[in-house]
This record gives sequence, structure tokens and C-alpha cells, in this order.
Amino acid sequence: MTNKKKPTVYITRTLPDVVETRMRELFDAELNVDDRPRSRAELENAVARVDVLVPTVTDRIDAALIEAAGPQLKLIATFSNGTDHIDIEAASRRGITVTNTPNVLTEDTADMAMALILAVPRRLAEGARILTDRKGDWEGWSPTWMLGHRVGGKRLGIIGMGRIGTAVARRAKAFGLSIHYHNRNRVSLQTEEALEATYWDSLDQMLARVDIVSINCPSTPATYHLMSARRLALMRPGSYIVNTARGGVMDETALIKCIREGSIAGAGLDVFENEPLVNPKLLKLAHENKVVLLPHMSSATIESRIEMGEKVIINIRTYFDGHRPPDRVLP
Ligand code: DGY
Repeated sequence: MTNKKKPTVYITRTLPDVVETRMRELFDAELNVDDRPRSRAELENAVARVDVLVPTVTDRIDAALIEAAGPQLKLIATFSNGTDHIDIEAASRRGITVTNTPNVLTEDTADMAMALILAVPRRLAEGARILTDRKGDWEGWSPTWMLGHRVGGKRLGIIGMGRIGTAVARRAKAFGLSIHYHNRNRVSLQTEEALEATYWDSLDQMLARVDIVSINCPSTPATYHLMSARRLALMRPGSYIVNTARGGVMDETALIKCIREGSIAGAGLDVFENEPLVNPKLLKLAHENKVVLLPHMSSATIESRIEMGEKVIINIRTYFDGHRPPDRVLP
């Protein structure tokens, strides 16, 4: 950085040690030592005085907060791939640059989507729980016990064929699933050929055709409740759905009803509509082994968190060196 004065950087959550150490060296960094989510008042206070805000998906950076920012706030460098917690338009109106941390969590998130695609039909969580709950005391193997459904040979329908969707497709193909996808734009012919993927212009038609659905699209106003009651009803009887994207893409109430009524066999969810709250009806379904629920941990590897931190640092440094940060998010 060419500037003599280090930028003041407010980081809302505790980050890996190595990232915090580097941030302390490079910036006038205000860290969060106890990882307590910051209150609205604390965020308002921060944006009124610092140059850079480093929020995460647990912070709500809406238009009102951005309006409360002082003229010194130049950059919102979110420690996340998703940016649905930030009002990008409002930031742009105030001339504040927004950056995120794409790419580095693609493979980890795809791993977890694949893990759920396998875990739900194969009753993995249920099996593990039985042994643990019974303290290892079980009846032993039986030809008819704990039967799930074969995953290989099934049709997977991916909603959102961006980086993560494509990484899920690669994994699923290796497990013998046939790949179907719906996306705003068709991916290149080369990618389609490599994945032997079938493109569906109509999401509705794809849903009626596939056995397992994986949600991998971003959360935007256009994708809010994309999996609505009407669309969930289009899914094949006995099919499964996995969501590692954002809770808002799924109408949870409608999903619960479909699983209760048996039209959908099960779901694997890593994200929820009102995080960190989880609908008690979903928890009940989990106890009945109809759904596998995870606490938004698809990208939670040490490696991805460090690389996300490195990206935040690069974005801040590039900005204050007077260049366009590599991961700038446009409205
Ligand atoms: C993201 O970065 O958007 C993930 O959902 C949280 O790691």
C-alpha cells in the first residue's frame, strides 16, 4: 500500500489466527476477540468512523446501516462468498465499494452438497445416531434393516450451475448420477459435454424429471422462494432435495408439508430461512429421520477460512493501492 496511514478496519467476527495476525500487521485492525456477533449499535458506531468494514453472513448490512456510514467508509470487504446480507445498491449509491471471497470455498461447499446427496437417501445420520444412542448395543446386521435408496444411476437436478453447481456436478457424475441443470444461462458446450449434462430451460420441467435436487444458486430477490409450494409439488414422488445455498431460496413451510405428506422423501439442509433459528417442525422431522440438518457449515474448513481471510486482505490492500479489488461485487 502506498498510503502512509494504515486504513482502519473493523472486523465483525473472530477470524483464524493467521488471518488476524496479518490484518494487525497491515491495517489498523479492530478485531473481535470473543466472536460475539456485533449488535446493530456497534455496527452503526463502526461505520461512522472506520475506513473498511469486514462483515460476515451473520451481519445485516442494509440500506439504513449504509446511510449511517460516515464519508470515510470506503469499502465493505465481506468475509463470505454470498452477498445477500449486504444492500449492494445502497452501498453503490454512497460510493462504497463491496468485495466478497469467491472461489476459495467452492470445492468445500460442493463436498458438503455431495455428502448430503449421499447421506439423505442412504440414512447416514440415522445410522450413526442409532449406534451412538444405543451406546453400541444393536441387534447386528440384517438383510432388511436400515435400507435406503441407491444414489448411483439417479438423476440429479442442479439449480444454479455456477462455480459451486459445476463442482457438485463433477462429484455427482463420479458417483454415477446423471446431471441435469437449470441456470439463467446455459454453460459452455465443453462443460456440458465433460459433465454429460442436460440443460433445462424450464426449471418446472426439470423438477418433474429428476430424483434429487441440489440448490446451488445465489439468494437474490429473483430466487426468493424459488422452490415454492407449487414447484416442490412438481418434484417426483420419493425424490430428495438438498440445499447448501441460502435458506431463502426454499419455502421451508411448503417443504415441511411435502415431506409430512410423503410427496418428497427427504431433505438435506445446511441453510435456513431465519438463521440461526431453525423451524421446530424441521427439527421434529430430523428426529423422525426424514431430514438431515446441518448448521450452515458447508464452507467450514480451516483451509477455506484462511483463504477467505487472504482474499479479504488482498481486496483491502488492492483498494488502498488505488486499484480495482479483484473480487469487487457490482450492483
Ligand atoms: C458464504 O461465504 O457465503 C457462506 O455461506 C458462508 O461461509
